[in-house]
Amino acid sequence: MSKPKCVLAYSGGLDTSVAIKWIAENYNVDVIAVAVDVGEEKDYEGIRLKGERTGAIESIVVDAKQEFVDNFVSRAIKANLWYEHKYPAFTALARPLLAKEQVRIALDRGAEFVAHGCTGKGNDQVRFEVTYAALAPQLKCIAPAREWGMTREEEIDYAEAHGIPVPVGKASPYSTDTNLWGRSIECGSIEDPAQEAPEDAWAWTVSPQAAPDQPTYVTIEFAAGVPVALDGERLNGVELIARLNAIGGANGVGRVNMMENRLVGIKSRELYETPAATILLAAHRDLESLTLDRETYHFKPYLELRYAEIVYYGLWFTPLREAIDAFVDETQKYVNGQVTVKLYKGTCEAVSRTSPNSLYDFSLASYGEADKFDQTKSKGFIDIFALPAKVAAAVRREKGL
Ligand code: ARG
Repeated sequence: MSKPKCVLAYSGGLDTSVAIKWIAENYNVDVIAVAVDVGEEKDYEGIRLKGERTGAIESIVVDAKQEFVDNFVSRAIKANLWYEHKYPAFTALARPLLAKEQVRIALDRGAEFVAHGCTGKGNDQVRFEVTYAALAPQLKCIAPAREWGMTREEEIDYAEAHGIPVPVGKASPYSTDTNLWGRSIECGSIEDPAQEAPEDAWAWTVSPQAAPDQPTYVTIEFAAGVPVALDGERLNGVELIARLNAIGGANGVGRVNMMENRLVGIKSRELYETPAATILLAAHRDLESLTLDRETYHFKPYLELRYAEIVYYGLWFTPLREAIDAFVDETQKYVNGQVTVKLYKGTCEAVSRTSPNSLYDFSLASYGEADKFDQTKSKGFIDIFALPAKVAAAVRREKGL
């Protein structure tokens, strides 16, 4: 009789490599390792082989970069997704996609279990497990790092005893997570929020002081809220984002340093590098200010706030997320045009914009010759608009309130 199967979300790192052996031993299952490429530039063939050599009965790499951009990052752009106004939630966006790929493979291979290497203190465990529960509730979840209670030293001992390659040399003090939309850095001295972030934590961005003394301009074209071209060149989203990460990073753009509220109730100090997200979201928001009517432009941020929470909390595969996306898509029909962004020593500012759907009317706005606005109409408008203020103030005066 063959053993039950478990599909593990595999990164190639120490934790998930140890997890391959630990799950096989402790649950008496065959482990299938699945690594999903969402744009972290690493050697995926090497990871696949490592999964196999570490004891997985099958080791699979899924290239999900295009899907990540088309179905996740594009929605984040349209919804101006900033969790707590600072974090573009790239890890939170990728986890449901990783979990969905695991589930797809688990169902295809007839697996009984899925597994992830997240600890019991973070948001990622929630994002994986909510996705499993939504897409395939019959699958049972194993979370080894939450169960085994090993310290890093014990993990290394376990790895050595089981012939798992252990990273050599002095281990980095930091824990990072990377995809196309950003890079996170935690642990080490970062855990002390009273200290400035150490310079060696940053990898994608130069320090603003060291950035070029001349500004760099980039022009981004959007179609229905999604970036489609950079400096006049039509590009696939994956390529466009990669290029903006490089250009922004070279100008020191996209460093984030924040205190963050985790879903599990812990506050944590986080560093992020998000050059492309910083540039694209600034440009997108700017284009909305040109193309959306005032009331839609004022209302949309209420839903964006909720959308950021939903994504951060791992509730991607839920009716509310879909309903907000439907609203957002309706608004984005008009968000077409070009925005030029100026990058200069860590700053990023939209400096000019054009759109075929521009709501800017020169003859209404101008104070010059072209002015067609009938100023005599303003008097009656203000009389009525002021009425509630006038009545309330009069009553207060009269009653001495
Ligand atoms: N604090 C961020 C979040 O919760 C980043 C988490 C990074 N995850 C990791 N496994 N290193 O989305």
